[in-house]
Amino acid sequence: MAGAGTEEQLAQRLEELLAVERFAPPESFTEHALIKDRSVHEAAAADPVAWWAEQARTLDWFKEPTVALDDSNPPFYQWFTDGTINASHVCVDRHVAAGNGDRVAFHWYGEEGEQRDITYADLHRDVQRMAGALKARGIGRGDVVGIYLPMIPEVVVAMLACARIGAPHNVVFGGFSAESVRERMEFSDAKALITVDGARRKGKTAPVKVNVDEVMGDLPALETIFVVRHTGVDTPMTDGRDVWVHEAMEAAPAEVPAEELPAEHPLFILYSSGSTAKPKGILHTTGGYLTGVAWTHKYVFDLKPEEDVWFCSADVGWITGHSYIVYGPLANGATSVMYEGAPDYPHKGIWWELCEKSGATIFYTAPTAIRACMKWGVEHVEPHDLSKLRLLGTVGEPINPKAWLWYHEVVGDGRCPIVDTWWQTETGAIMITTLPGAQDAKPGIAGTPLPGIDAAVLDEDGNEVPPNTQGLLSLRRPWPSMLRTLYRDDDRYLSTYWSRLGRETYVVGDAAKMDDEGYVSVIGRIDDVLNVSGHRMSTAEIESAIVSHELVAESAVIGQADEDTGQSVAAFVILQGDLEGTAELEADIREHVAVRIGKLARPKRIIWTDDLPKTRSGKIMRRLLRDIAEGRALGDVTTLRDPGVMEELQQLVASEQSESG
Ligand code: PRX
Repeated sequence: MAGAGTEEQLAQRLEELLAVERFAPPESFTEHALIKDRSVHEAAAADPVAWWAEQARTLDWFKEPTVALDDSNPPFYQWFTDGTINASHVCVDRHVAAGNGDRVAFHWYGEEGEQRDITYADLHRDVQRMAGALKARGIGRGDVVGIYLPMIPEVVVAMLACARIGAPHNVVFGGFSAESVRERMEFSDAKALITVDGARRKGKTAPVKVNVDEVMGDLPALETIFVVRHTGVDTPMTDGRDVWVHEAMEAAPAEVPAEELPAEHPLFILYSSGSTAKPKGILHTTGGYLTGVAWTHKYVFDLKPEEDVWFCSADVGWITGHSYIVYGPLANGATSVMYEGAPDYPHKGIWWELCEKSGATIFYTAPTAIRACMKWGVEHVEPHDLSKLRLLGTVGEPINPKAWLWYHEVVGDGRCPIVDTWWQTETGAIMITTLPGAQDAKPGIAGTPLPGIDAAVLDEDGNEVPPNTQGLLSLRRPWPSMLRTLYRDDDRYLSTYWSRLGRETYVVGDAAKMDDEGYVSVIGRIDDVLNVSGHRMSTAEIESAIVSHELVAESAVIGQADEDTGQSVAAFVILQGDLEGTAELEADIREHVAVRIGKLARPKRIIWTDDLPKTRSGKIMRRLLRDIAEGRALGDVTTLRDPGVMEELQQLVASEQSESG
């Protein structure tokens, strides 16, 4: 790291750099970049559908599509409908067939310093066996398979094995509770679940299978629970239902061919938070999704698969992991780093140690993680040789310019371009960013729509707002990796995304501004969805978890600005009868939310109250609660049923703040 000097000198330099509005790609980067100018944007804009069809051709199809877009029934768009393909074939078999079986797909690092290299040939062997194991339990085309695994290579094998036989997977993030898993298995009628004996986290082991057993009980569709042996903790197995993965794989045939599937065959469902308590099952299909993730992974990250080592710090349980740990990198034949543990375990420099060890050249993480690293200090970065890094990326939430600059200067040594990538579970792949060899980066501003993407900032009537004016971020043209629907809920798909501006304009749910060069800055969600450390959470879902506590009468949850996590969960809670809030009860409610949803949904702050601001029709006015929690002047209170509530709440929060000093 060149000349970072002391923390004070660094702070001063960052302060000075705040005045710099744009960073051009270094010439040395552009010289070797796959895309050096904006001609690709122009070529794609001339005929986006034809351009996407051309990109799709780089995948290895069984039968090449002749149809690109079927837009006969908007917004139920379909892509490449007459083509046939298989994601596990594209991600594994074709690389082996091309003689690249010995290439490392994953340098895997365990929490306690373990290391395993998994080649494409290894994946080819294991994915077939796992696919055979699934088939032996009667799982086939269209059967949903749940996956609840930590960051171990088996999670990739499980996903690809499902893809191989046309069984859509439904991955649940390992940080979600067993109850959340049950709910997601129930909603999707999963026929099997692939989980683990135990998961390690910061030196401790959680008995995952035992926790799953406690809640899974009686789901009629769930016939099999496959268990990966990872930690060796005691794991009771239920006869007839539970199967050890290693035993099932041993018994399975060595060759299980990838099934030839239509391009629109469902690849996966991924549940994400919406504005009601029930999570949305976002459905992605095969050909279009692969086209989107392969193109963006290659060109946004300037990937040269023979030379680069790719490190995405996300968890596979989120869309970032699906698209940029599993499908994008593997479709491109990349070599990736996969890390099992937390960013601060066994020490706060573990990511940088792994970058050095693996020779990582491209690193992709979330702004919240960068802010945490900033707090921990440069001394955790400095000891490591990061000279191989050449490109950095962020995703998940807006990045504040100071964190951007710290990332640029400290991790990237001032020489690595940064791509700030905007996208969503729904979009499948990156939609807005800068192409690092072709466009300047502006700290805090994501970038322009990618080639083939028509993003715009619109008013309530669907007209473009003038530059630098806030409006609704929207996507006006279908794109191949878009969600196809919400699983078994077409109506919710229509009402969530396509009711505000019609059936041809996808309303993202974010407020944004576009500058006069077409760069988009994303301001934040316009619905009741929170973004905590780049993780999407629903206020309604957390409220419903809090209210299910036996001593709680009512609750309203809001997102509060938070220096570290972007937003944090604050909950206004009304207790039953005359009960008084106590520290114990607060801890109990937080734990209750952890069990119902997961630790990440626990309220950081609980505010006890006797009443909530409601409209005359009984709707809670969260906007006013946000004003109160953040100490702002109150907005319009005239529609309140009882404006007196606000005064009481303000006093309450003020006294709480003076108590906490
Ligand atoms: O609000 C935007 C924010 O994250 C939301 C999507 O969340 P999710 O589906 O969980 O996917 C996260 C990972 C792709 C968006 O609606 N968001 C994502 N990336 C950015 C962002 N906000 C600002 N800048 C970004 N780069």
